[in-house]
Amino acid sequence: MKTLLLFVASLQLSTTYKILVYSPGLSNSHLMSNGRIADLLINAGHDVLIYKPELLAAANKNGSDLAKMLVVDMGLKEKWAKTFENYDDMIFKGDGMSVSEFLNFQKMTVETCDAQLKRKDIMEILRAEKFDLAISETMEFCSYGLFHHLNIPSNIVLSPGPLMDYMSDAFGFPAAPSHVPNYLGRFTDEMTYVERAKNLLATNAFTYMGRHVASLTTKVFRNHFGNDFPEIYELLGRSPLVLVNSVEILDFTRPVLHKLVYIGGIGMNKPKSLNKKLTKIVESGKKGTVLFSMGSVVKLQNAPLEMKSAIFQALAKFEDFNFIVKTDASDKEMAELASNVKNVYLESWVPQVDLLGHPNLKAFVTHGGQNSILETVYAGKPVLTIPCFADQFRNAATVIKKGFGTRLPSLSALTVDSLTAALHDLLNNEKYEISARRLSRMLEKKPVKSEELVVKWTEFVAEFKQLPELESYARQLNFMQLTSLDILVPFTLVLAVALFILYKVLHALTRLFFVSSKLKNE
Ligand SMILES: *[C@@H]1O[C@H](CO)[C@@H](O)[C@H](O)[C@H]1NC(C)=O
Repeated sequence: MKTLLLFVASLQLSTTYKILVYSPGLSNSHLMSNGRIADLLINAGHDVLIYKPELLAAANKNGSDLAKMLVVDMGLKEKWAKTFENYDDMIFKGDGMSVSEFLNFQKMTVETCDAQLKRKDIMEILRAEKFDLAISETMEFCSYGLFHHLNIPSNIVLSPGPLMDYMSDAFGFPAAPSHVPNYLGRFTDEMTYVERAKNLLATNAFTYMGRHVASLTTKVFRNHFGNDFPEIYELLGRSPLVLVNSVEILDFTRPVLHKLVYIGGIGMNKPKSLNKKLTKIVESGKKGTVLFSMGSVVKLQNAPLEMKSAIFQALAKFEDFNFIVKTDASDKEMAELASNVKNVYLESWVPQVDLLGHPNLKAFVTHGGQNSILETVYAGKPVLTIPCFADQFRNAATVIKKGFGTRLPSLSALTVDSLTAALHDLLNNEKYEISARRLSRMLEKKPVKSEELVVKWTEFVAEFKQLPELESYARQLNFMQLTSLDILVPFTLVLAVALFILYKVLHALTRLFFVSSKLKNE
């Protein structure tokens, strides 16, 4: 604590920057994570405003108690709610998220972008602030145009989960689909031939989806401000720095550029003690207690009855464990099912970090959102992931690769048998806990703390504004140049022709030689 205070005090001696954090209201977990960045910068002496366009009513948190807030209703709550409602089918019946489903989400962000630009009053408030720097999540493309429009001289891109494929493309990272699983994929880095083919296709599809949505967003800006407005994809690619909400030990090892900094695990507070009710539940599990939470976006109350019933039938088989299941208070079906099962407790809200930190909490069943994964790694607890959408499948694959848990392929694969088998494996195999503890210690001993990286890099970028020094020239090259095919193809052709000619000549010479020696012998 003392060193932290000293650290904060020493930072306050430097320049104060005015920083905008762009935090679209789509999920409480993202809002909290953006808020943690804001708080960190405020504690380092900077002046931070969080601008939150309100989109989903359920995303009702601000994420920060310290930052100034500009919360603006964009009048799109119903439309956004519909977009997410359509996800229920994908989540409960589907088999992962397709690129086209992701495209629908992205198209709503383009509409949202237009709605924001129409709010000239808000734009003027933001412009008048004369920010030194802006930070935005990468879930959409609007922010890069906004920052340009607002004359903010510098920006940082914040990736809430693993880097999306179009982002690496925009920045000019070396594409490596042979061993870097795509954002929506479920492969680990060890892929079979067919998986590599699928991964190559998906990586490219996702990249082109990103380019397409960026160009739609560019159109929105050009409609408002004329055809001189720069390409959004170019603005994204030129951003001086990318902060990724993951850690090196967790993400699949991949080629990166100098402008990428891993900052996962920031602001994770030491677990606090639980309230009386939860303490009693957690401590009364004979062999321990398991937390079952599908996060803030998946609505377990909308799951089909058979799925809910399957969950309870499976959990009831583990009599020595208590289960805390997070579900909405309005869910009568779950309440009724739970009333027949002794070892299951329903909660509508859970203090996740505090629960995971309790010594008697043995494992975590989760949708595998990035923040939940980071929190469980921080606590050193093994997980069973049941991925539902977006990067959750990839996160589940990371868990398998790093050995701290198991997975079900998707929610639709959840049956009494599959859940029982996965839990049995998780709770009876010490290896998962050993790996989880090792990762937890590694996170604790990370050579440079993520908090320090965020503050120092932000100040560095704010001072120097643009960082062409970190730009990869790859962005200027076309596909043929980038892959060196423009050299390899002609070179191979010339070589082939030369070899062919050589072969023909030798062939002719040997024939001549044999013929002449034959003649001589005769
Ligand atoms: C979020 O910030 C706004 C604007 O300052 C405020 O009106 C609102 O009460 C805050 N909400 C929460 C949940 O703190």
